[in-house]
Amino acid sequence: MAVAIVLLLLFLPFVPLAFSGLSPNGAPPMSDVAALLRLKESFTNSSALSTWSEATSPCDQNSTWYGVVCEGNLTGLRLSGLGLSGNIDIDALLQFDGLRSISFDNNSFSGPLPAFERLTALKSIYLSDNQFSGALPDNFFIHLNHLKKLWLDGNHITGTIPSSLGYATSLIELHMERNKFEGTLPSITPPPSLSSLNVSYNDLEGTIPAGFNKFDSSSFEGNPYLCSTQTADKPCQKHQMTPNNSKNIISICIVVMIVMALLVAVVQAVKTDTESSSYTLGVERDLPYNKVQSPTKVGGSSRRNSFSVTLWSRRSVSSVHSVPKEDNTAGISTGDLVIVNQNKGVFGMLDLMKAAAEVLGSGGIGSVYKAAMINGVVVAVKRVKDMNRVAKEVFDMEMSRLGRLRHPNILPLLAYNFRKDEKLLVSEFIPKGSLLYVLHGDRGMDHAALDWPTRVLIARGVARGMVYLHTNLSSLDLPHGNLKSGNILLAPDFQPLLVDFGFCPLLSPSAAQQAMLAFQSPEHLLSGQPVGRKSDVYCFGIVLLELLSGKFPSQYLQHGKGGTDLIVWANNAISEAREAEFFDPSFLEKYKPSLPDMKRLLHIAVDCLEPDVEKRPDMKEVTSRIEVVVADVERVNKNNGSSGEPAVNSHAAYVRDGANDRPTRRSGSTNDRLSRGSDNAQVFSIS
Ligand SMILES: *[C@@H]1O[C@H](CO)[C@@H](O)[C@H](O)[C@H]1NC(C)=O
Ligand SMILES: *[C@@H]1O[C@H](CO)[C@@H](O)[C@H](O)[C@H]1NC(C)=O
Ligand SMILES: *[C@@H]1O[C@H](CO)[C@@H](O)[C@H](O)[C@H]1NC(C)=O
Ligand SMILES: *[C@@H]1O[C@H](CO)[C@@H](O)[C@H](O)[C@H]1NC(C)=O
Ligand SMILES: *[C@@H]1O[C@H](CO)[C@@H](O)[C@H](O)[C@H]1NC(C)=O
Repeated sequence: MAVAIVLLLLFLPFVPLAFSGLSPNGAPPMSDVAALLRLKESFTNSSALSTWSEATSPCDQNSTWYGVVCEGNLTGLRLSGLGLSGNIDIDALLQFDGLRSISFDNNSFSGPLPAFERLTALKSIYLSDNQFSGALPDNFFIHLNHLKKLWLDGNHITGTIPSSLGYATSLIELHMERNKFEGTLPSITPPPSLSSLNVSYNDLEGTIPAGFNKFDSSSFEGNPYLCSTQTADKPCQKHQMTPNNSKNIISICIVVMIVMALLVAVVQAVKTDTESSSYTLGVERDLPYNKVQSPTKVGGSSRRNSFSVTLWSRRSVSSVHSVPKEDNTAGISTGDLVIVNQNKGVFGMLDLMKAAAEVLGSGGIGSVYKAAMINGVVVAVKRVKDMNRVAKEVFDMEMSRLGRLRHPNILPLLAYNFRKDEKLLVSEFIPKGSLLYVLHGDRGMDHAALDWPTRVLIARGVARGMVYLHTNLSSLDLPHGNLKSGNILLAPDFQPLLVDFGFCPLLSPSAAQQAMLAFQSPEHLLSGQPVGRKSDVYCFGIVLLELLSGKFPSQYLQHGKGGTDLIVWANNAISEAREAEFFDPSFLEKYKPSLPDMKRLLHIAVDCLEPDVEKRPDMKEVTSRIEVVVADVERVNKNNGSSGEPAVNSHAAYVRDGANDRPTRRSGSTNDRLSRGSDNAQVFSIS
């Protein structure tokens, strides 16, 4: 009981949203009837929906509600060809957790496209043959990783085709023909699942990127300036630049003037946005997160709270002028930003400044921001204050070393910015968030997908990533140092991606001591021994217990107040032969035949937590023991047909960059680089 109260206090900022049943928008939940009537109200001509009335319920057996599709819950809306116009109330649609398909095609809707991208569980969206106009936001597809069919044909939509398209990893049909899309096709590899694409009869230009070659030429017809190959017989740009030098110089001058004007505008904005003129990147005092002593960002709503922030200080603005220069040893320097990994292309401070930014949260060693750049790449930017242990040269070396790491279970650093008092660390943004968030914060589809086979694969992925770090950062005493579920991000296929490793030599000793979980190991706490790679093994043991029990470990909280002491519980469960009570009930029933494997994993975890460092196994040994369990789990589930395939397989389209040694289970049909999200686990990390 006491534990529950402490936890409640820790989660206080989220309590109103997470526990009192309010909807994400803060409004009280609506009944299905009320939500549908509110949707109807947003239409201007709803005479075709006279059957929608309070008298009956939409999903009753003998419901008369037109166009409402129910399978238990409301799953679809088929409102094609009804002469509807006006708005489409997305907030009303957000009330339906089960909604998977909407058809508004062949109506008279006009104006900018409503924010359908907020309905992230949708599998099909039919909007053909209306009069929608305006552009799609560039991050339109970022969270639509369940979307299979999108029909937008026959509207008046303008702007470019969003490069975030690569994130729609389930997309099969994309129809954008007969609109006013302009610009070039995004230079991405389209999702491998995409089999039907049509962008014909728009105003596209440029050359069709190689990734789109598999589609029929009729998919591209009717775009006068779109070329299949760069040829001389057809202009591939609407307004060809003449090879006249003086004209070029004039246009360069214009570009320079625009950039200058932009910089002035940004500086002005920075000035007016804050009272303190030096820094605007941190707006902590406004953040609800920081009102808690120990920020445990696991509240279900924390990811939805977004703030617009001005990301960079005036000082960095002024240094953006510097010409990007290449330097093969330290990476590419673009302004203040040093690129250490080019998998996501080269970008500079200016790109980050122009990005739509959002606060994700703050944890042990800094605050994290999400920045969606206009080139479609979305990154997580971590701002760290206490990384001032080493000189710039050493810092540069460490960063380029971290940027060179390549492993399917490692999320490498992309870029960094060094300033004396503060560092910015940029990595890819991973939409699903951290294991901590999915396990304890979010009770949605992702949590449901964390069944037993998936958790075993996560355990294996984390173990493999750790072995890689212990091998490739062998000069470090503490290769990771802060392994915990908040620093394990989940790729779309639930493969774990480790973040925030290798920071120990960079942090001031007091900050490291404060923020890093390895310092909570018994060798350090009880015997005062130095932390080392076996301390990483200890942290891994806690993650295993967390995966097995589904409970929040008290070890993540300062002074162990709150959460469940999983170590004590696990040891008791084993000594009293009551292991079954330890396992998360959400998978235990369904996977009963795997109970012996669950017990084996529990024993591995307890061995990792062995207080005597000498007796504690190393990462390699732990990993090979886990591999054996995984093999057995796979065998058991094959024999026990009812258990179904682990969710991991259904998202197999996702592949990490430079992953040569892919785990065997991944189908690996793709090289789609954009379909990978990035790091925001630190977000929910705990000091
Ligand atoms: C309203 O919808 C009906 C069909 O449902 C259609 O016949 C009528 O023309 C529409 N009215 C307007 C003003 O669009
Ligand atoms: C459905 O219709 C039957 C008669 O056809 C009626 O008895 C029953 O009450 C109706 N159910 C609902 C929920 O309206
Ligand atoms: C319908 O949805 C609600 C929440 O949206 C859920 O609690 C309930 O179990 C669902 N019912 C069915 C039959 O799917
Ligand atoms: C579009 O809707 C109208 C009624 O509003 C219908 O007559 C027509 O057949 C529909 N067209 C298509 C292509 O479905
Ligand atoms: C694309 O749409 C155009 C216009 O509707 C059509 O002529 C063409 O056949 C379509 N191509 C494909 C591959 O769907």
